[in-house]
Amino acid sequence: RQLAGLMHADLLVIGSGIAGLTAALHAARSVDVLLVTKAELAEGSTRYAQGGIAGAVDPSDTVAEHEQDTLAAGAGLCDAEAVRVLCDEGPAAIAHLIDRGVAFDRAGVRESAGGLDVAGDLEPADGLGSGIGAGRSPYALGLEGAHSRPRILRAGGDATGRAIEEVLVDAVHDRATESSSSTTGGSLALREHMTLVDLLVDGGRVVGAELMAADGTRLAVRAPATLLATGGAGQLFSHTTNPAVSTGDGIAAAWRAGAAVEDLEFYQFHPTALAAPGSFLISEAVRGEGAVLRDEHGRRFLPALDPRAELAPRDVVARAIAQVMAAQDGRPVFLDATSIGADQLRERFPTIDAAVRGAGVDWGSEPVPVTPAAHYWMGGIRTDLDGRTTLPGLLAAGECARTGVHGANRLASNSLLEGAVFGARAGATAVEQVRATASAALPVAAAALPVAAAALPVTGTALPIAPRGAGCAASPYTALPAHHAPVDAAVPAGSDPRPGPSPAPGPGASERWTRAELQELLWSHAGLLRTGEQLDAAAALLASWGDPDPASCTTVAELEDRNLLHLARLLIAHALARPGSVGAHHRLDDPRHLATQGPADNQGHAEARGR
Ligand code: FAD
Ligand code: SIN
Repeated sequence: RQLAGLMHADLLVIGSGIAGLTAALHAARSVDVLLVTKAELAEGSTRYAQGGIAGAVDPSDTVAEHEQDTLAAGAGLCDAEAVRVLCDEGPAAIAHLIDRGVAFDRAGVRESAGGLDVAGDLEPADGLGSGIGAGRSPYALGLEGAHSRPRILRAGGDATGRAIEEVLVDAVHDRATESSSSTTGGSLALREHMTLVDLLVDGGRVVGAELMAADGTRLAVRAPATLLATGGAGQLFSHTTNPAVSTGDGIAAAWRAGAAVEDLEFYQFHPTALAAPGSFLISEAVRGEGAVLRDEHGRRFLPALDPRAELAPRDVVARAIAQVMAAQDGRPVFLDATSIGADQLRERFPTIDAAVRGAGVDWGSEPVPVTPAAHYWMGGIRTDLDGRTTLPGLLAAGECARTGVHGANRLASNSLLEGAVFGARAGATAVEQVRATASAALPVAAAALPVAAAALPVTGTALPIAPRGAGCAASPYTALPAHHAPVDAAVPAGSDPRPGPSPAPGPGASERWTRAELQELLWSHAGLLRTGEQLDAAAALLASWGDPDPASCTTVAELEDRNLLHLARLLIAHALARPGSVGAHHRLDDPRHLATQGPADNQGHAEARGR
């Protein structure tokens, strides 16, 4: 294949959400960084984040309590050491964002139902020093599901992601401008509309990536370190809160290159997306402020299932909604926020207020129809605590990485935190790798470019499911009816008897298919509620679908389709390899609760959106 160009960098960062921007800014102090991204710099899940960023920033809170809540939400499958790092380094990472200029909302005078000290006036922070650690936190702290206390910082009421993304994008622009006029230290160069096609692998080491520009031309970037920060893959499902760029490209490319991927059976469905086309998110913080969920007859259903009711972990709430919807022929449930009052809703949640009212619902006086939607992938590219993947030369951070902090179910508002904490760590590791490569004089820069299409493995190899980490907190679900109990959370490390997933296409796979079919298939057969029969049927169908030939892809959409197909096969293979229910992976045919469970019905949620 003809390549239009060749570039060199010390570090190639792919993706410009909180993880990629943090890593790039960190590393560009010392080495030459090239940051590429598929759309505009600001596009990605980060900018749509609503509820906020979690951290033990109030003196009355402790890192240990944040850790405990994270481990409990993760249903026994977190990596305890990764959780410790996340919660321990979280306050400093948040302080760093504040020092960069993120104006988290300050505490005001008015108390609310859920918040510790919710701002009545949303005055921005001054951005000079965090104030964290000095007496009571000056910031408004909100409450979300499965947090034992209010610890969520927010900006603009419900526009936290936009505030963070804007500050980080400004910072990379500033750094890139400085780089062009300075010859000392590291540097940063930015390229928008540049899409990862595949990683370049030479002798088992990742040595850069092949990229596609907006006009379809290809180029290669060679770098001793490549860092993937490409986010999640909500576009695998027909209903998602994620933006269009969330097609899991980095995870698919890492897998094709031979990196270990893990926990792909754990996809988080946010309980409350507006039941309308577009699945607009209605933040968990609305429930944190006192909103409750009701069935179509106006009855609350969560208090009977979990003592934390609407603030139980996300998987519990989303599954309860799915089951209620199944019982009411797929019609949506309702989020009743009327007790908060129209004025407070507008002031506290300006973005959501506009969207809900735009959909014709006066939520100050009537309940909002909501359903679950695909939101966050707990699984991804396996990394250590410093962003290293299992492939030399390749790092990963943010939602595309599987650090082990989320286990089987992510705690609310821990994802932005993960991007900030592990983005910085991965950036620092990348610098070390660049220096080590330079001093070892590895033949990275000089080697011939292995960019021919044939050099890139198309399907990857079957990867074993890694042993589960020991030492996590007990599951919070043991107090629930038997069908909620995690059946295999206690598999001892190193003794997992399950076969590794084998997601390769069938021989002669050639069926034509469309992205919408794939998304519907995953929604109906591998969504919130699954059975082995559904997963087997989906696996067989996916195996018959032809793989787009990467060499002949000329558009970003074609490359994305290839990635979505590979990831769909992987997700289903991982889900089949785990016969028991735990966290976000719920098997209706789990032998432990077959007797108590109703019929599988994922289709109902789709119908609620009036398609
Ligand atoms: P992203 O922010 O998704 O960035 C990925 C980047 O990679 C993008 O720039 C994208 O364009 C780029 N990219 C993708 N593919 C390619 C490719 N092939 N080539 C080049 N570039 C590529 N989490 C919280 O903690 N708190 C919240 O309040 C919260 N609210 C949320 C609300 C919504 C609506 C959504 C969707 C998510 C929310 N989350 C929240 C989750 C959180 O926002 C994300 O998990 C997090 O922002 C991911 O950051 P990231 O940097 O890993 O990826
Ligand atoms: C939300 O605001 O409900 C989303 C928070 C998250 O995904 O962590």
